[in-house]
Amino acid sequence: MAESKANDLMERIVSLCKRRGFVFQSSEIYGGINGFWDYGPLGAELKRNVKDFWWRVMTQKRDDVVGLDATIIMHPKIWEASGHATTFADPMVDCLLTKKRFRADQIEPQSGIAYHYGGAEDSTDKTKTSREPYSVLLAPGKHPDSARKAARQFYAQRGITEARLLEERTEKVENSIRFNPENGSLLTEPRLFNLMFKTCVGPVESAESTAYLRPETAQAIFAQFKTVAEVSRQKVPFGICQIGKAFRNEINPRNFTFRSREFEQMELEFFIRPDEAVEAICGSVARPASPGHPGEPQANWGWQMWHKYWVEERLAFYESIGLPRTTLVEYWQKPEELAHYARATVDILYKFPFSKRDAAGELAGEELEGIAARSDFDLSQHQRFSGKAMGVFDEELKEAWARLDEAKKAALSKRYFESRRNYLVKTGEDPAGAEAKAREEAAGLGRGNYVPHVIEPSAGVDRLALALICNAYGEDTAPDEKGRMETRIVMRFHPRIAPVKAAVFPLLKNKPELVRKAREVRDLLRPHMTVFYDEAGAIGRRYRRQDEAGTPFGVTIDFETLGEQGAELKDTVTLRERDSMKQSRVKIDTLAALLVERIR
Ligand code: GAP
Repeated sequence: MAESKANDLMERIVSLCKRRGFVFQSSEIYGGINGFWDYGPLGAELKRNVKDFWWRVMTQKRDDVVGLDATIIMHPKIWEASGHATTFADPMVDCLLTKKRFRADQIEPQSGIAYHYGGAEDSTDKTKTSREPYSVLLAPGKHPDSARKAARQFYAQRGITEARLLEERTEKVENSIRFNPENGSLLTEPRLFNLMFKTCVGPVESAESTAYLRPETAQAIFAQFKTVAEVSRQKVPFGICQIGKAFRNEINPRNFTFRSREFEQMELEFFIRPDEAVEAICGSVARPASPGHPGEPQANWGWQMWHKYWVEERLAFYESIGLPRTTLVEYWQKPEELAHYARATVDILYKFPFSKRDAAGELAGEELEGIAARSDFDLSQHQRFSGKAMGVFDEELKEAWARLDEAKKAALSKRYFESRRNYLVKTGEDPAGAEAKAREEAAGLGRGNYVPHVIEPSAGVDRLALALICNAYGEDTAPDEKGRMETRIVMRFHPRIAPVKAAVFPLLKNKPELVRKAREVRDLLRPHMTVFYDEAGAIGRRYRRQDEAGTPFGVTIDFETLGEQGAELKDTVTLRERDSMKQSRVKIDTLAALLVERIR
């Protein structure tokens, strides 16, 4: 019941998105293309506001983060270093009957009676036989004929048009993921499918000219780490952030824009000292002692404090654009879920209407962003694959090291040596080589050299836009032109990210004085915010259209504005608030400042 309500709500949201031009299918006139979406006028503004606000918060308002805008196609070696060339793959299975493809790890377990067949022969032509086994799963109580019908279709596809099924046997099956949930047909064995889109650089198509559309923006940040650090004169700890397109050939794009094949990411790579360096400089490493935000960054923070800090910063970001804390879930990945290089990862989930429900019937949420403590894996990998040093020199560490007693130096060197050796062995170095390299690197620590570690908050623009749309969607009632109550669809976007901030309406379009004044007010507001001017139709209809667009403020120029209802009301407008529908009178000369205050 809860699920069908959620589906219904999602359908209404998708329909509004199309009707009002937030999001619609790419290439729609040709029937669309699965996993690709276009943003219409309102969606484009919404996305731009999300990205601009992220950029402002993550870099422009900070001293310790700088920006990057790198290319989508990069040297293919980058994807070898990052591991994407070999491991960025999902297991896929195909339906043996319809050829429909699924992600093996997303098949819902099913139970029932499996009908197995050892093959088939053609009853009209005995030379036509197949010994290919085939199975169908039937829900309990279903007639065996539907299994036989599916099996005959399967063998017909193999040229046996009048199939006599051979060796039918049945088996009770519990929680199996071997069958297509849509028709019960057997699926192929899982095969790995690399999600990177391939392309070709230059006029000759060959293995040498193969390149990839980036599946994440992060790798460009790692590859350019040294250059950006140098030109920006930043010292660790500091971050580099980027917003841009990413491409993944997802096996099963689904849930509207949630899993797309082309999408945008907003990623920060925040580089920090290894804990051994922090301890050498500060004497000890601070670790999170209490829940909540750990406050202003401190020199003695190790990776755990930085990780906690970014989790809290990111949660605060979501709240500041109107996603209440109750709609978000902070999910700490379990040790067995972590990538091999990650020390900890927190996923921030949003409770989308299509999210699965937990045992208590609560929406469990789906990922908006992952915040990973990735150790020194990424820069180390690029160091190995490019042959270029990715380490930094830290003057403060060199000086602090000289002051340490021998026992402390030995203890810190040993820890650093072990972590470097583990990384090298895990990534394929032979144990003797790993030992020698790690020893050399541990000696480098005393000279102030190390490869920085990284904390990575990585968010999806499209998923966030979808969360904001789902969160904003509301239905209530409001009086129509004749005072009768009608259903009102209202998008309650936070004014910060609302596509249009204010709509300006002359009360009547056939009164030149009203129109002139309304245009003046529009031009007065336009330098400060996105404004929509509308003079068509009854005022109530115009309000309703802006409620659906999520415009937080309506400004109506009426006869009071012209001074026709008393001199004291001259040059005032009606300001209508979208959510409460309350109206008040505001002086035109204070209007811009008042609205700017509310949308910032
Ligand atoms: N650099 C780390 C990284 O890319 P990820 O968890 O694979 O990590 C980060 O992706 C974010 O990108 C996700 O949390 C999600 O918001 C977004 N994202 C990933 N795949 C997506 C897809 N197919 N469609 C839309 N957004 C996606």
